[in-house]
Amino acid sequence: MKILGISGSLRENSSNTTLLKIIQAIPDPEVEFEIYRGLGGLPFFSPELDDGDASDPVRELRAKLAGCDGIIISTPEYAFGMPGVLKNALDWAVSSGEFDKKPVAALSASPTSAGGDKAHASLLLVLSALGADVVGEASFPIPAVYKRISKTGEIVDPAIVGLLSGVLSGLARAIKSGRE
Ligand SMILES: Cc1cc2nc3c(=O)[nH]c(=O)nc-3n(C[C@H](O)[C@H](O)[C@H](O)COP(=O)(O)O)c2cc1C
Repeated sequence: MKILGISGSLRENSSNTTLLKIIQAIPDPEVEFEIYRGLGGLPFFSPELDDGDASDPVRELRAKLAGCDGIIISTPEYAFGMPGVLKNALDWAVSSGEFDKKPVAALSASPTSAGGDKAHASLLLVLSALGADVVGEASFPIPAVYKRISKTGEIVDPAIVGLLSGVLSGLARAIKSGRE
């Protein structure tokens, strides 16, 4: 099964991107895991731009969303919400509908003890507007992320690998049960 990872952070040493890289490194012969890298190259969403032919970055995003069986989003919290670049990407998927009934795991990592819970809540709300099948057991905020990984991306607390394995297996179960 194909799973697409989307990090809400453009930062080079992003903790959210690191979490996706850890998931990517989990050996699972059934899973092909790709991390989408085009978030920063998308134009700002406007319905007028959506009326005609979509630009190449938008077509690439839509093709990747349509071509996968499930999605894992990991997002930071900026000013109590998800980053604008992530919301912008999700806005591009409203009219094209790739999230509809697609199993999605939603994570939000933050250095704080609240774990980006407000960004997480706003992400869940937007995913519900998109009709996504959010997998509850694979969706949660991750507080105090720098107690689990270092600022340069090394694993500090090995339990994070087990936690993220659970995200991957929970999402995979939801994908399989949707196929039955
Ligand atoms: C402009 C800005 C606003 C932020 N606002 C919040 C916030 O509201 N809540 C929070 O938990 N962290 C906030 N942070 C801290 C981020 O959680 C932290 O920088 C995190 O490491 C970003 O994720 P990343 O490592 O994936 O880039 C903010 C950071 C920046 C730069």
